[in-house]
Amino acid sequence: MTQHRPIKKAVFPVAGLGTRFLPATKAIPKEMMPIIDRPLIQYAVDEAREAGIEQMIFVTGRGKSSIEDHFDIAYELEATMAERGKDMSLLEGTRLMPGNCAYVRQQEPLGLGHAVWCARDIVGDEPFAVLLPDELMWGAPGCMRQMVDAYARTGGNLISVIEVPDDEVPNYGVIDPGAEDGALTEVRGLVEKPAIENAPSNKIVSGRYILQPEVMKTLQSHEKGAGGEIQLTDAMARMIGSQPFNAVTFAGARYDCGNKAGYVEATLALSLERSDIGAEVRQVAERLLGQ
Ligand code: UTP
Repeated sequence: MTQHRPIKKAVFPVAGLGTRFLPATKAIPKEMMPIIDRPLIQYAVDEAREAGIEQMIFVTGRGKSSIEDHFDIAYELEATMAERGKDMSLLEGTRLMPGNCAYVRQQEPLGLGHAVWCARDIVGDEPFAVLLPDELMWGAPGCMRQMVDAYARTGGNLISVIEVPDDEVPNYGVIDPGAEDGALTEVRGLVEKPAIENAPSNKIVSGRYILQPEVMKTLQSHEKGAGGEIQLTDAMARMIGSQPFNAVTFAGARYDCGNKAGYVEATLALSLERSDIGAEVRQVAERLLGQ
């Protein structure tokens, strides 16, 4: 079997304006909004770490400095907690060391493709992962772990997909599927927001990517797509045919935390699974629903 270069770097685009969550996101980055007691960005970083990724590259913008603070030493907090005998494990996974993290600015939110391109110098000439923190992928093993395992077999470009009911397909980007092999599907094309009758599948692109460095050259042209934004999907679509391109159907749950109902669903679903608050939340939910 061919040895593919391992995925050691992940890009987290976190420079978007998060307008769907205003006014909450006026002064707080969307990616710092918590699902229970962990900010969305922390779930994504933990998922990348579980997949063996070592360097986390954040594409940030103005007003996003709390993300850097979140992954830094909190000297006063840590010293006070230690002095008072507080449970230090509450801060687990929140400190990224120099060498394990890098921050680069996207000066204007010109689109997801542009955000990824802003990380090109740090990514360099190696394959890399992209994780969108507002899509919470919940499973064991995690989504990126499932993808990295598949990548060891396929190489090339890889995206995660999930299957949705047909009537939801027009809201998303979907794949035009080729040959299937278990959870793997060959990607023959990508179609953004198709009408139900034209949709080539119900497998939607879901916020996790493993990409070859050549995508940066494609993004270099800064061509604008849907919504006047520089789209990652367009750049990926251009690589189909010249490099292997596959999708992994994620065995797990996806919560679209970029929209309000998805965010509430994630909070409820993850709460119900928790040993500390699950039973209490279930009672509350049943009471509210009048059962
Ligand atoms: P979204 O499409 O959800 O956009 O971006 P958004 O700006 O965050 O939110 P709304 O639509 O205004 O409510 C998906 C991911 O890509 C990042 C976002 O931060 C988010 O994590 N992104 C998007 C960038 O980093 N830069 C961009 O120019 C656009």
